[in-house]
Parts: sequence; C-alpha cells; structure tokens
Amino acid sequence: MTRSQPRRQILSIVVLISGKGSNLQSIIDAIESGCLEAKICAVISNEPGAYGLIRAAAHGIENRVIDHRSFASRDAFDLALHRSIQSFVPDFIVLAGFMRILGSAFIQSNVDKILNIHPSLLPDYKGLDTHKRVIENNETKHGVSIHLVTAELDGGPLILQGRFPVTADDTITELKRRGRQLEHRMYPLVLQWLSVGKLHIEQNSIVYEHQLLQEPVEFENI
Ligand code: GRF
Repeated sequence: MTRSQPRRQILSIVVLISGKGSNLQSIIDAIESGCLEAKICAVISNEPGAYGLIRAAAHGIENRVIDHRSFASRDAFDLALHRSIQSFVPDFIVLAGFMRILGSAFIQSNVDKILNIHPSLLPDYKGLDTHKRVIENNETKHGVSIHLVTAELDGGPLILQGRFPVTADDTITELKRRGRQLEHRMYPLVLQWLSVGKLHIEQNSIVYEHQLLQEPVEFENI
C-alpha cells in the first residue's frame, strides 16, 4: 500500500447536508481562498429548508433537494440520491451535517468515497447529542472525528481527530462552539490532503504519506 502519485485532476466533491451548512461554508471558503484545491460539483440536501442550500447558491454552486419524505422507502431515497450524485462523477462524497443514515447498498456502491465528520472522539459517543452526553459523563476531553463511512454507523476507519479539554463549567453551547471551530479547520485540511495525494483511501484503509494509518492523525488543540 505505498503509492503516492500527485493527483493530476482537481479533487471533485459532492457535499451532502441537512441543515445550517457551516462545514460546507468552511470548505467553500478554503477553496475560494486557495487553501483547498477542490471543486464542489454540487450540494445536495434532504431538507428543503436547509440554510446550506442558500450558502451554495450564493457561491454559484449547483444545489439540489432530494427530500426523503417523497420516497416510499429508505432504499428508494438512497437510490435517487446515488443517481443524482453519480451524475457529477465526484471523487468523494462529503457528509457535512447530513442527518440521514445511508443504507448498505448506497455504501457498497460508493466504497472508499464517503467521508463524514462527527462531533465526538470516536469510537466514543456515536450517534446524537454528543455534547450533552460528554457533560453528563464528566468527561475531561472532547473533540471531533473525520472518518470514512462504512456500514457501521459512525464506525468507519478514522482519519483525523481533534481534541480539546472540557472544564467543569462548560455548557453544551460552548462545547458545540469549540467543536465547530475545530471542524471548520479539519474538514478542509483532510480534503486538501486527499487533493494533493498526501492521503489515500484504499480498500477501506487510510494510507497517510505512504503509511497505513493505524491511529487517526491528531489535530492541534484549540
Ligand atoms: C456538525 O456538528 C457535524 O459534526 C455533524 O453535524 C453538524 C453539522 O453542522 N455531523 P453544519 O450544518 O455544518 O453547521
């Protein structure tokens, strides 16, 4: 597992969202400022009212709604989503606050291509309400994980983790704020690594600078 040819074409991504889209904005900003060599082919939301759609439109990025409520089954929604994404032939599918669980057929059809960002130090605190649970459990550390998406919810191979201390008087709002700050630095960074060939994803494994990644890379504290 040692290949590191610089990419010849610009990294193309489709970003999936359900809401605010602050991570999407961080990716757009990184591209526009020249820190990230990538192209967002499209932004797709399952929620018609997602503010991220407005962000995409404001930057001239193609944006679509595929409302899961319009489909009779999860599989039918996944198939429509898959077809829409494939029309852009992206290198990667970037989940940025996409609040639908993707089925195994979708994941199988997009092996090694789907990235997610999760507001906890995975494998701890999979699922929702991570900040609340961190406080309830009196944790002293919290953070953010970027991982490859596999059939196991929030369970794919870890790529990058950022951690920060939690103090006794921290609130959910404060943890969320600090976590988001990290997220907005981490997602563009991972995409840039993919873009320049510093990071490869092969057969469900993460290869970082010629080495199989056994542990996620650590991002600096904030
Ligand atoms: C982030 O906290 C991310 O970790 C989680 O969903 C949230 C999305 O926020 N997966 P935004 O829509 O990017 O602002």
